[in-house]
Amino acid sequence: MTAGAATGQAARLGWPLVWVGELGSTNDLARLLVGAGCPEGAVVVADRQTRGRGRQGRAWASPSGGLWCSVLLYPSADLPQGLLSLAVAVAVAETAEQFVPGPARIRWPNDVEIAGRKVAGILIETAGAAVVVGVGINVGIELQVMPPEVAARAGSLHLIAGRPIERRAVLEALLARLADRYSAWAAGGEAVSDAWSSRDMLRGTPVAVLHSGPAIEGIAEGINREGALRIRTATGAIRQVVAGDVHQICGPSDPSG
Ligand code: BTN
Repeated sequence: MTAGAATGQAARLGWPLVWVGELGSTNDLARLLVGAGCPEGAVVVADRQTRGRGRQGRAWASPSGGLWCSVLLYPSADLPQGLLSLAVAVAVAETAEQFVPGPARIRWPNDVEIAGRKVAGILIETAGAAVVVGVGINVGIELQVMPPEVAARAGSLHLIAGRPIERRAVLEALLARLADRYSAWAAGGEAVSDAWSSRDMLRGTPVAVLHSGPAIEGIAEGINREGALRIRTATGAIRQVVAGDVHQICGPSDPSG
């Protein structure tokens, strides 16, 4: 399968486009499309998901009003895969800012927040040689329909903008930003790291990282070349975390997860 970005061409994303009313998870249908030989750029969108998935095995509430979509990519295996999820986060943050006053900031690795509220999440899964990029953006979600623990820390673009926003327009903007950022990622990681770092909301703050081992506490010090989170612990040592959940130990809000 030829990957546009991986061959140095601008990636074209958005064809074929499958938009359905209700699905378990768009990531699952996208995985089936891989098996059916669908090309890079194929997109699945659902109005609602009944079994939406989030990071770290969590459920992702997906009622009507959100943009729930998955994009198929076939990146070259030689490229730094850890930075791809950060490139997607940058694309999603840039997309959100086209519809609402920003800034959209990123909580490592790829939660997108505006004014301390999470407006989008990203779940990247592999399927053979393919990568399924699942993106959930709260475009027109009424927060009272979300589970209370989600509503307490979530935001929705239409509430921030104070006007209705078309999901189709958000999808088009997302695919354009994603194509750009995907190509930049394929051309070399530096541009991705710089763009991500300029939106890093944790840098310099005290954090606790929950991961497979004992929790790590310290000051967040940005990312390394592979996209791992750097934490300076009380001893002055730097720990590097490739996967986990980050909680701000103190600060204006703690909308992680
Ligand atoms: C997270 O923040 O935990 C990631 C959430 C990712 C949700 C999206 S919605 C579209 C796609 N399909 C899924 O089941 N999950 C992703």
